[in-house]
Formats: sequence, C-alpha cells, structure tokens
Amino acid sequence: MATAAFAQEVVPAVWPHRHLLDLERLTPAEILLLLDTSAQFKEATEGCRHKLGVLAGTTVVTLFFENSTRTRTSFSLAARRLGADVLDFSASGSSLSKGESFIDTARNLEAMGVNAVVVRHKTPGTPHLLSQHLSVGVINAGDGPHEHPTQGLLDIFSIRERLGDLNGVTVGLVGDIAHSRTARSNLWGLIKLGAKVIVCGPPTLVSERWRELGVEVSHDLDAIIPRCDVLNLLRIQFERQNTRPFPSVREYAHLYAMTRDRLRRAKKDLLILAPGPINRGVEVTAEVADCPQSLILDQVTNGLAVRMGVLWLTCGPRESLGNSGGRS
Ligand code: NCD
Repeated sequence: MATAAFAQEVVPAVWPHRHLLDLERLTPAEILLLLDTSAQFKEATEGCRHKLGVLAGTTVVTLFFENSTRTRTSFSLAARRLGADVLDFSASGSSLSKGESFIDTARNLEAMGVNAVVVRHKTPGTPHLLSQHLSVGVINAGDGPHEHPTQGLLDIFSIRERLGDLNGVTVGLVGDIAHSRTARSNLWGLIKLGAKVIVCGPPTLVSERWRELGVEVSHDLDAIIPRCDVLNLLRIQFERQNTRPFPSVREYAHLYAMTRDRLRRAKKDLLILAPGPINRGVEVTAEVADCPQSLILDQVTNGLAVRMGVLWLTCGPRESLGNSGGRS
C-alpha cells in the first residue's frame, strides 16, 4: 500500500489522547483501536520489515533513565520505520548531572522541536508528570513498577493474533506480580477485553488484594496450568527489592518455572509468553522458551507493530486523525 493512501485511508479513526500513559484509564474501544492500528502497520510494512515514511518530518526522542534493550530499540526502530527522526537521549553525560531538573531537560528537548517523548523512569508517575508540563505527546515506556502500556499491548496483540479474540481466554500471569509493570498493564488490558486473568506466584509477590479487581489469585502454578490458554512468565524484578521474597532462586524455580514436565500437563495449544529479558532456568526453562508454542520472539516483532501504531496515533498528523483539538 502506498504511503499516502495508508495515511489517509487506513487510519482515519478518532484517537482522543495526545499521550499514552497507561492502560488503566483507556476504554476497551481505545485499546482495540490501538491494537487494530498496530495490526494495520504490521501488514503495511510486511511484518514490520519495511519503511512507510508516514511520520517523515517528525522527531521522536527516547528519554530512558532505566536500562532497556528491547523497548528502547523497538521504539527507535518503529519511529524510523515510519520515517521519523529519532534522538536517543542518555541521562548519563547530560546536564542532569549539573543539577538541571528532569522537567527542564524535557522542556529544552521540546524547544528543539521534538514531536513525541518516549520516557522510562524508575519513579511511578513520571510520564504523567511530564505530560502536564509538555505540549507534545508523552509515551510511557515503563514507570517503575507501575505500568508499561506498550508491553501490555504487544502481549495482548500477540495473543489476539493467535486466538482471534480475547473474550473468554484464560491468561495466567506468573511471577513477580508485586513489582511488575508488565503485569499491571497486561491485567488492565486483558480485563477490559474480556479475558479471565489469574495472577500466580509466591504469597510474598502476589497479594490477595488483586481479587478486588476481579482477578483470580493463586499460589499454585500446577493447579492453574490445565485451565490456562496462555501463560505470561514474568521475571523476578530483583532490582526493585531490598530483601529476597523467597528462600532461594532454586526453590522459586522448583515451584514456578515453566518446565517441559509442566507443559505436558497443560492444554496442548497453550501459548507461552515472556516480556524479556528471560532468565532461563528461573521463570522458564530453555526448552520451553524455545518450544513451538513460545511466542517470545513474535512478541518482539509485534512490539515494533504496536509502537508504530502508538507513535502514529499520538503524533501523526492531526488532520489525518480527524481530531485536531481537545486531546488529553
Ligand atoms: C520489562 C520491563 O522492563 O518492565 N521488559 C521489557 O520492557 N522488555 C520486563 C522485565 O524487565 O522483566
């Protein structure tokens, strides 16, 4: 499909937001619009391989204050696939070390004419704060343990691509629910699209209070495996904890790692997801990570599609989107 035709015909939908801060406050229709737009970009770029150029003349800055491999590269590549210029800002070596505030740094970047800021920070709420001070789009690439909306979207995108619909699908989120932003974004998105969510892990990492959101809580992976259509295996976020939430990694793996034995007791078409980075032998064994039911690398490709969709909807030309004003 030609670039101009794509811009005019394929994405005429109304997207009412300037930013993408979390999935908690999006409606099911808005989440579906993000997923559908991403699917159109995946198709139009032949599996995220080719360039489209619809964001030519736009500049996207990635502002990462926490480590990242997949997310940062994926945003940069997605922006480039759409023809945008990308500025990868590094906190180390910047004037932040000279005492400049985070907001001032971002406002200086805005004054250079950037159109969107993709931000990752260890403090929950940082993207929300930034969105109150900038007039350009702010996209949350992970705010501490709070949310990671594009990861939630790409996980849901990958499930939907295989199963067609989320309604009635049972998804087990396994691992460090307490500190995982991926868990939170998945949870909100999945509930809104009608999936049944089970959060599973040791009691120190999976609170009973999740039940208040209509989610099932389990501490017994073996008990839930036969009921799940999808398992999303989350890494233990040791970097967010001062004490160990269980006696040893070996014991954790014994109870919660997805192994070949456990796979035998699952539905035969169970889908295995993991946001990465994976720790082979801790939350998932190498055999399961590389098995045919594993979507781990599909998730990475779909991350590009989702980030193209998000960048387009948040900083694409207003007139093509049919929404010139009133965006929040
Ligand atoms: C996730 C993150 O950073 O929250 N990874 C990612 O974005 N690919 C999950 C994790 O680090 O475990």
